[in-house]
Amino acid sequence: AKLLVIHGPNLNLLGTREPKHYGSTTLEAINARLEQQALQAGHCLTCFQANGEHVLIERVQSTVHEDIHFIIINPAAFTHTSIALRDALAAVAIPFIEVHLSNIHGREAFRRHSYFSDIAEGVISGLGPMGYELALQAALARLLPP
Ligand code: DQA
Repeated sequence: AKLLVIHGPNLNLLGTREPKHYGSTTLEAINARLEQQALQAGHCLTCFQANGEHVLIERVQSTVHEDIHFIIINPAAFTHTSIALRDALAAVAIPFIEVHLSNIHGREAFRRHSYFSDIAEGVISGLGPMGYELALQAALARLLPP
């Protein structure tokens, strides 16, 4: 199967960005592990990061021309603001898991609300980079066999 991982704004800075919340692992390292784990399981995973809301929306929309079976997304700050990105995911109707590196329920009050969680297959928050790997395992379990 084909899986798409989408990272929202400022996640390109992982490694140096607020390590107390986000750890020291780079986005490249997270993506490399996910690609390798998917490949080992006989699937194909690609990763995409953008800082712009419309760029993320266009990436989601363009999945209609591909055969993407599952999306893992960390909408980053757009989690708390973007009805438009939520609508894009609802429009393409591809199942997705929402991932956050930090525990969004243990920080500022404005991070507690997500525009994505109620339409996600599931949500993982606060487990760092491992959250993406757990999301991949859950996605593959739903998609098996390759
Ligand atoms: C985040 C949490 C968001 O509140 C924040 O804006 C981010 C990253 C996380 O992965 O913990 O940019 O989605």
